[in-house]
Amino acid sequence: MELIVDPARATTWSATQRRSGRKVALVPTMGALHAGHLALVEAAREGGNTVGVSIFVNPLQFNNADDLAKYPRQLEQDRALLEKAGCDMLFAPEKEGIFAGFTPQTYDLAPLDQVLEGPSRPGHFQGVVNVVERLFFHVRPDVALFGEKDRQQLAIIQHAATTHHWPERIVGLPTVRSAEGLALSSRNQRLSPAERTTALVLYRSLQAAAALAFKGTVTQAEEAGRNTLAAEPGVVTDYFAIAHPRTLQPIADWNGLDEAVALVAAQVGPVRLIDNITLRR
Ligand code: PAF
Repeated sequence: MELIVDPARATTWSATQRRSGRKVALVPTMGALHAGHLALVEAAREGGNTVGVSIFVNPLQFNNADDLAKYPRQLEQDRALLEKAGCDMLFAPEKEGIFAGFTPQTYDLAPLDQVLEGPSRPGHFQGVVNVVERLFFHVRPDVALFGEKDRQQLAIIQHAATTHHWPERIVGLPTVRSAEGLALSSRNQRLSPAERTTALVLYRSLQAAAALAFKGTVTQAEEAGRNTLAAEPGVVTDYFAIAHPRTLQPIADWNGLDEAVALVAAQVGPVRLIDNITLRR
């Protein structure tokens, strides 16, 4: 596996792959890799793609300096995992390189960025879209893969790619969970064993809502989710919502829908966690 720090070299690497007839798949990450990232790498390899993974802890998307400072960084461990997973190239740029000569843009992400994570994390999605644009600019992948755990992020990147005619195909893949149901996240590393057990309530709350989906009212399903969270000591709910599967806007009823999505964000100990599941009729 090739390790590339210089963005210009990433562009050359990608062009070389394409010249030899292979498509380039990119898995953008912020490192601290887990089985969810490796599932993206595996999916990226299918179909004979050459696979690049980027690791860059993007300061533009953190609206909390403490969260940025404490974000786990473990490049050597990640590198070993990627070697084993059959990744072809690791792009690990420095801030100065990836943003050289670049002025961040303001993207029109409305109304996707005005709900759920949007109000709680001002500027977050602008930061995500700006860095994804830079990663695409440097690596020029044919396809880029993202986890559905960050469902709103995925919808926003898809929206940016469509409205700005980015040539990259955006693919979303299902959330990978621990055996008990905890959605894998790099932030889980900061949970104590007791907090990890507490954090299982997020998935339970989603399942409580799923049990009423398309049977009770939307309000009843949301209440079931919120009550499940409220019953767990040490959890501070930010939101629990049921939304349209594509626009992520709140829905008042199930009319005309075969699917909806339940989404949750809650603070558990030092970490703010998010999760979501698709509700099917
Ligand atoms: O999901 C992530 O890890 C990040 O938000 C991303 C897409 C790599 C952009 O920094």
